[in-house]
Amino acid sequence: MRDKVLELNREFKNSDTKEILEFFLKAYKGKIAFSSSFGAEDQVLTEMILKIDADAEIFTLDTARLPYETYDVMDKTNLKYKTKIKVYFPKSSDVENLYKYQGINGFYKSIENRKECCYVRKIAPLKRALEGVEVWITGLRAQQSISRQEMELFEWDEANGVIKLNPLLLWSQEDVWTYIRSKNIPYNALHDKSYPSIGCAPCTRAVEENADIRSGRWWWESPEHKECGLHKKEIKKC
Ligand code: ADX
Ligand code: SF4
Repeated sequence: MRDKVLELNREFKNSDTKEILEFFLKAYKGKIAFSSSFGAEDQVLTEMILKIDADAEIFTLDTARLPYETYDVMDKTNLKYKTKIKVYFPKSSDVENLYKYQGINGFYKSIENRKECCYVRKIAPLKRALEGVEVWITGLRAQQSISRQEMELFEWDEANGVIKLNPLLLWSQEDVWTYIRSKNIPYNALHDKSYPSIGCAPCTRAVEENADIRSGRWWWESPEHKECGLHKKEIKKC
């Protein structure tokens, strides 16, 4: 599979986003899924994907700790595109255990607790969402963080056994917003309140002007820990 990914990166190096999506949504129909957190990048992809295939598989991981504004944009997106984006929830017994062992907001107390919470609320539901999927589309961009600069258009995700496709990898933040405005795409209201990157409510805050895009995520942790595990090369239960 690693060879296949190398080959895909070579083959689609000069293709534009729309061409790539058109090709893969058709070639992998029924085995390709896009995960959306309803952030700006994901809204661009939702518009592009549903234009190509109105029945394409789009899912979100509802951690049950999302900000109100995210539910609002979920609703607006479903209405605009006359769709019902699939929602995956964490297992109730896992969340009950999490509260039992680390408390309600235990994620502030240690990195281990935080990773365990991300595992229960995101990583485990992601595994369910990717069952039977061969190509996983994400809204990752290289400019989002130092750790994402090494990412490629196609990657092999060993933990989930899928090819990961990052069609917006080389888009700038400006490209994203120009596209959103030109198509009048609904977006998360928190983006207008200095939240460039949005995750769970207790783990996301507004950032200063010109600050690192992801500095408002898990702001109490040092930068090398600022990934929840969805996009690590090796995903392990923490
Ligand atoms: S995270 O790993 O730090 O949470 P980020 O918020 O930057 O990731 O989002 C990057 C990509 O990961 C999104 O474009 C989306 O494809 C996927 N993603 C992140 N969070 C979710 C979620 N809650 N549901 C579905 N996909 C998600
Ligand atoms: Fe839990 Fe915060 Fe991770 Fe959300 S981002 S799953 S609340 S630790």
